Amino acid sequence: MSCILVAYASTHGQTRKIAELIAAQLRLAGHEVDLADAAVELPPVEDYDAVVVGSRVQFGAHARPIVDYIRDNRDELAAIPSYFFSVSMSAVSAAADPEGYLEKLFTITGWRPRAAIAFAGGLPYRSYNFLLRFVMKRINRHHGGDAADTSRDHEYTDWSAVGRFAADIARDLAPLEADEQRPDIAADNAIRHARRTIALPR
Ligand SMILES: Cc1cc2nc3c(=O)[nH]c(=O)nc-3n(C[C@H](O)[C@H](O)[C@H](O)COP(=O)(O)O)c2cc1C
Repeated sequence: MSCILVAYASTHGQTRKIAELIAAQLRLAGHEVDLADAAVELPPVEDYDAVVVGSRVQFGAHARPIVDYIRDNRDELAAIPSYFFSVSMSAVSAAADPEGYLEKLFTITGWRPRAAIAFAGGLPYRSYNFLLRFVMKRINRHHGGDAADTSRDHEYTDWSAVGRFAADIARDLAPLEADEQRPDIAADNAIRHARRTIALPR
């Protein structure tokens, strides 16, 4: 069993739902998983065996707290298996990184996760105020989207793709499970787990 952090930033809830599904699937695969919202607090990377980071895109950029977290923890993230998912409307297109949002993030932070993916998000018009609804409807039309009806929410996330991403992570972490049989690694992990649960000094 690995200790995995799923850290995310979400403004209107779609990235949170995706993060929750990934966390649930990793738990089903037998891992201990913490889900952390960047709007509240992100725990230290060194407390985990692996980290999955996710962020929504707004105005061409991922959420600032997530970008800062990655930048501040770049070396720690590079030392363990780490993964990234981006949530945007442009990911509705079949291209892997249609607007280059992921590449931009990796360039500005210097972080290269083991795997990264862009998921299509949604347009929850009913949670937008009047102005945002108007703006998002125009942007959606500009990008050739079909979400003209602003009286209801629109969701574009391919949940099977989210499930496959989580399954790929679980598979990728399988060798760590084998390592856990080694007494030195098991001892390290026990200390790490204790730190997280009873706030041991560092
Ligand atoms: C104010 C605003 C700006 C957005 N800007 C972009 C953008 O630049 N590119 C894009 O592909 N999607 C953009 N979107 C769409 C969001 O990425 C999409 O709605 C996503 O599902 C948001 O995730 P969240 O619900 O976790 O906040 C924007 C949405 C909002 C509300």
